[in-house]
Amino acid sequence: MNSNAPHDLQASPSPLRVLVASGPTREPIDDVRFIGNRSSGKMGAAVAEAFREAGCSVTVALGPGAQRPAEIEIVPFGTAAELLQVLKQEWPGHDLLIMAAAVADFTPVHVTKGKMRRADGGVTLKLQPTLDILTTLAGITRTNQFVVGFALERAEDLERAAREKLQRKRADAIVANSLDAMDAPTIQGKVLMSDGSWCQPPENAPISKQVFARWLCSLILPLARARVKAS
Ligand code: CTP
Repeated sequence: MNSNAPHDLQASPSPLRVLVASGPTREPIDDVRFIGNRSSGKMGAAVAEAFREAGCSVTVALGPGAQRPAEIEIVPFGTAAELLQVLKQEWPGHDLLIMAAAVADFTPVHVTKGKMRRADGGVTLKLQPTLDILTTLAGITRTNQFVVGFALERAEDLERAAREKLQRKRADAIVANSLDAMDAPTIQGKVLMSDGSWCQPPENAPISKQVFARWLCSLILPLARARVKAS
C-alpha cells in the first residue's frame, strides 16, 4: 500500500462538478406532434467534452434528438417543464451550470389526446409562455455556484440582449452568438461578464464549436473554481 495515499488524497482538489443543459425542447401538441426548434446540441456536446477533458466531473441534461457527448453521464428531458425539473434536481449537486439548451418560450395550453385529424378542419393552437428556467433556478443557486447562460439573437440585437439577459436571468456570464450558429458546425461568439466586460476568442472569426468550447472552458473554469474555493 502507498503510505503517501492519505496525503495525496488531501492534496488533489475534488473535480469541479459541471452541469450542461443541451439541445432542444419539444412541447407536445398531440400524441404524435410537437413544437420544437433547430437546436442540434452540437455546442452543448462540445462544451461538455471540453470540461471533461479539463478534468471536471460533467453531467449533461440532454434534449430529444440532440448530439450525445462522448463518455458523459446523460439525464434526458423532453419539454421545458421537464428540463426545469431535471435541473432543480441536479443543480444543488453541481458547481457550474452551462445553460446551452434551446428552451421553448411557449407551450400549448391543451394537449390533444391521440391524433388531430385533418378532416376535422383547421386548428388554432393556444400557447402559453414557459417558465424562465435560469430565473427560476436563481432562487436555489448558492453563492459558491457559477451560472453561464446563452443569448442567441440577431447580430444587431446581440449586445443589448446579452446585457438584458445577464441581469434578468441573474447569470454570471452570457455567451452571445448570432442566429446563424443554430444547427451549424461553427460559431462566432463572445462572452459578457458580470462586470460588463466582453471576452472573445483570439480568432475573431467563425470557429468550430469544439475550439470555441475549449476557449470558453479556459475562460470560465478558473472563475468557477475560485468561487468554490472562496466558500
Ligand atoms: N432560457 C431559460 N428558460 C427559458 C428560455 C430560455 O432558462 N424559458 C435560457 C436559455 O437556455 C439561454 C438563455 O435563457 O441560456 C437565453 O435564452 P433565449 O432563448 O435567448 O432567451 P429568452 O429567455 O427566450 O428571452 P427572449 O424571450 O427575450 O428571447
